[in-house]
Amino acid sequence: MRVLVTRRWPEEVERALQERFEVVLNGPDRPLSQAELARAMNEFDVLCPTVSDKIDAAVFDNGCRVRLIANYGVGFDHIDLAAAKAEGIAVTNTPGVLTDATADIALTLLLMAARRAGEGERELRDGRWSGWRPTHLIGSALKGKVLGLVGMGRIAVATARRAKHGFGMRVAYYGRRECEPEIARELEAEFFPDLHALLGASDFVSLHVPGGAETTNLIDAKALAAMKPTSYLINTARGGIVDHDALADALDNHRIAGAGLDVYPHEPEVPAALLGLENVVLLPHLGSANAETRIAMGMKALANVEAFAKGEPLPDRVA
Ligand code: DGY
Repeated sequence: MRVLVTRRWPEEVERALQERFEVVLNGPDRPLSQAELARAMNEFDVLCPTVSDKIDAAVFDNGCRVRLIANYGVGFDHIDLAAAKAEGIAVTNTPGVLTDATADIALTLLLMAARRAGEGERELRDGRWSGWRPTHLIGSALKGKVLGLVGMGRIAVATARRAKHGFGMRVAYYGRRECEPEIARELEAEFFPDLHALLGASDFVSLHVPGGAETTNLIDAKALAAMKPTSYLINTARGGIVDHDALADALDNHRIAGAGLDVYPHEPEVPAALLGLENVVLLPHLGSANAETRIAMGMKALANVEAFAKGEPLPDRVA
């Protein structure tokens, strides 16, 4: 069975995959073009892409040998599931193993934005720091503040646990339905069936809904206007959920206090209007980037490929 891994994985996972299958690795680790992906569809049985590969309908246009797309990552909005289904291709992802790492980055952004850590580091490295003074780079405390989660899946819950148990924050959330009573009790979480009501009640808003057509620009100018002028927006989910022109405008005019972003609509492009603003922390999609997590993601993708090779049910099938 021929397997294409589109980007380099941790060495031990690549080795484990190579011991079992005929694997082609992307030596230089550069993003593949759409033409290369389309060609690969005819040359391999299994494609293992990442969020940086756009698996759109055109990639399937010239016929497909590929029978499984085993995505290295939990989000799959970069894969056209309907087109894959039409070709009879199964799609899997890697849920669960990157929950803690991503929640850690949500808290990193929240702390950095609230305590103006990025601004401080830039000031210090630029030689502009003039010493301690009582009014220097004053941020916002977390204790007692409301963390409003948009979406209440695994990563949202892990973020809420850190915020409540670690920093004494209060938890509120918006979602299609209320979360498990046990989790609601543990977090003393308040449910908001209306997004804008949650935004208006939160001091920090953290996004945890999937990307894709249903959530594109969910956080638009109106949503940003519903937030308090003292509040912060945190996004570790997908860039397309936020209208970045509206966000840059809200930040520039201090209609919200700040933001922390790990994801962007057209990565690796970062909306230019954000780059000059002091009140936004910008990270390069680091959510799952720790050694243990990246190995676990690879092992999960490998488990799906192995199940597929044996004709067994796929553990993490999404389509
Ligand atoms: C994920 O797993 O979805 C991360 O964003 C990296 O793709």
